[in-house]
Amino acid sequence: MNPDDLEWLLAEHEGLEEELPALLEALGRDPPGWGEVRSRLDSIALELPIHLEVEELVVFPWLGQRLPAAIGSLDGLLREHHRLVEELNEIRSLAAAEHPAADLRERVQHLIRNLRGHSRMEKDLLERALEAPLPAASDSFPTRGPGGRSRPQ
Ligand SMILES: [Fe+2]
Ligand SMILES: [Fe+2]
Repeated sequence: MNPDDLEWLLAEHEGLEEELPALLEALGRDPPGWGEVRSRLDSIALELPIHLEVEELVVFPWLGQRLPAAIGSLDGLLREHHRLVEELNEIRSLAAAEHPAADLRERVQHLIRNLRGHSRMEKDLLERALEAPLPAASDSFPTRGPGGRSRPQ
C-alpha cells in the first residue's frame, strides 16, 4: 500500500457517494423515476461488494499490520460492511416493489450518512498508516497462514 492506493480508495469512495444523491433526485420526481432508481441501485450493488472485498482482503490486513492498535476499529469497519450491504439490499427490494418514495429517500439518506462516516474512518486510518513507521521485517511476513498452517517457504 502506498499514497497511490490511498488515492484509488478515495476515488472509489467518491464514485460510490456520487451515485447516491442521483438516486435521491430520481426518487424525488413526481412520479419517481423507478427505472433510473433501480438501474443506479443495480450498479451500486455490483460495485460495492468488490470494493468491500478489496478492503477486506488487501487494505484491512495491511492496516492491521501498520496500526496494531486499530484492530478493534477494523473489526468495527468489517461489521459495518455487512450492515451496509444489508441496508443496500433492503433498499433494492423496496425499490423493486415501488415502496413509497418518501420513505425510500429517508433510507437512502441513512445509507449515505453511514457510507460517508465509514469512508471517513477508513481514510483517517489509511492516512495514519501511511505515516506510521514500517514494522520490523519479522512482523511483515507472518510464517503461519490462516488456520495455523505454515506458509510455503
Ligand atoms: Fe469499507
Ligand atoms: Fe471503503
